[in-house]
Amino acid sequence: MTTTVNNPAPNSQGLAGIVAATTALSKVEGTLGRLIYRGYNIHDLAKRITFEEAVHLLWVGHLPNQAELTELKAKLAAQRKLSPAALSVLQALPKTAEPMDVLRTAVSADGAAGEISGAPTLDQAIMVTARIPLILAAFARLRNGQTLLEARPDLGQAANYLYLMNGQAPSEAQERALNSYLVMLADHGMNASTFAARVVASTQSDLASSVVAAIGALKGPLHGGAPSKVKDMLEEIQAAGGKEGAEKWLRNKLENGEVLMGFGHRVYRTVDPRAEELKGMAELASPREFGFASYIEETALKLLAEYKPGRKIYTNVEYYSAVLLGSLGLPGDFFTPTFASSRVAGWTAHILEQAANNRIIRPESDYTGPESATFVPLARR
Ligand SMILES: CC(C)(COP(=O)(O)OP(=O)(O)OC[C@H]1O[C@@H](n2cnc3c(N)ncnc32)[C@H](O)[C@@H]1OP(=O)(O)O)[C@@H](O)C(=O)NCCC(=O)NCCS
Repeated sequence: MTTTVNNPAPNSQGLAGIVAATTALSKVEGTLGRLIYRGYNIHDLAKRITFEEAVHLLWVGHLPNQAELTELKAKLAAQRKLSPAALSVLQALPKTAEPMDVLRTAVSADGAAGEISGAPTLDQAIMVTARIPLILAAFARLRNGQTLLEARPDLGQAANYLYLMNGQAPSEAQERALNSYLVMLADHGMNASTFAARVVASTQSDLASSVVAAIGALKGPLHGGAPSKVKDMLEEIQAAGGKEGAEKWLRNKLENGEVLMGFGHRVYRTVDPRAEELKGMAELASPREFGFASYIEETALKLLAEYKPGRKIYTNVEYYSAVLLGSLGLPGDFFTPTFASSRVAGWTAHILEQAANNRIIRPESDYTGPESATFVPLARR
C-alpha cells in the first residue's frame, strides 16, 4: 500500500508541469498558442489536408504522396464494416445509453471480435480508426428507429461519417468543415486521454484496451465532454432571456464556484490556435448561432478576467466545436464521440510510439495515511 516519493515534484497536483513521455507526434506550446504535428504548424494543416493525410502524418511520420494516400484510403475503406459482435452489442444497449458509453463498449466488442491482441500494429490502428464513425452512426440510427447504412467506398472518413449519420452525402462545405475539425483535434500532446492510452499500452496490453481506456478519459467534462455542455450552456442562457440575461446567468455560475464550459486550458495561457480556426469556421457555417455564441464568449471572457484575475483563461477548442458540430446536424450528445473519432488517430499513434520504446509507466504517490495502526481482530472491532 505504502509508496514513497523519491523525488517529490513541487506542485504536481494533476501532474501539472511533469514530463511523462517523449514524443515526436505533436507539441503544444501554451504561452505561444502554438500546436505542431511532426513539425507542421496546425494553421498550415487545418484547412489544407484531409483527415486521412493527418493520420498518415501521425502514424507513418510524413505527409503522404498520392500513392501512399490512395493506399491508406483503400485500407481504411476495407475496414469500414462492423463485426456482427459489435452490431449485436449496439442492438442490445438501451436507446437511452450515452453515446460515449456505447462507443467504449462497442470498440471493446469489436476489438475482441477482431482478435486485436499482442503488440499494437498499424493495421489494428487502421481498423479501430475506420470503425469508430460506423459505431457512432449505427447507434444514432438505431436509437431513431432507422435502418443502418453501409459505408460508401467512394467517400472518405469525414463524408462517410455524415452520410452514415444523416442518410445523405454531405455538401462539399460540410465535408470540408468536418475534415478540418478532424484534422485539428487528431492529436494534442500529453492530454488526459492520450496519457491513459499510453499507460495501458505501457503494460503491453493490446491496442483496443488502450483505446477503450482513452475513450473513458475523454468522456469527462474537464476533457472532451465539454462541447455538449457548451451547447447546454448556450441553450440555457437563451432560455433565461438571451443576450439580456447572459451576464447575470454567467455571473451566477461564477459566484457559485462553477466553471464556464468552453473556457480555460491546462496548457494554453493564450488563445488556443484550434479555437481560432474553429471560430472562423463556425461563423461561416452558422452565422446566427455564431452571433449569439460570440456575444456570450465576449461576456464570459470579461467575467473570467474579473473573477479569476491573472489566471489567463481563454476560449478553448470545445467552445466553437459545439457551434460547428451543431451546424453539421450532429446531436449534442454526439459531439464528444465525434471528437473521439478524430483523437483516435493520436491515441493509436501514441500507442504505437509507446510500444516502440516502452517502459511501464508507473509513477509514485505521496502517502498521507497513518504509519503505524494497531491491528484489531474482527471479533473485537
Ligand atoms: C480545462 C480545465 C479543466 C483546466 O483546469 P486547470 O488546469 O486546473 O485550470 P487552471 O489551473 O488554469 O485554473 C486556474 C484557475 O482558473 C479557474 N478556471 C479555469 N477554467 C475556468 C472556467 N472555465 N471557468 C471558471 N473558472 C475557471 C480555476 O478554477 C482556477 O481557479 P483558482 O485559481 O481560483 O483555483 C478548466 O479550465 C475547466 O474546467 N474548464 C471548463 C471545462 C472545459 O471547457 N473543458 C474542456 C477543456 S479543452
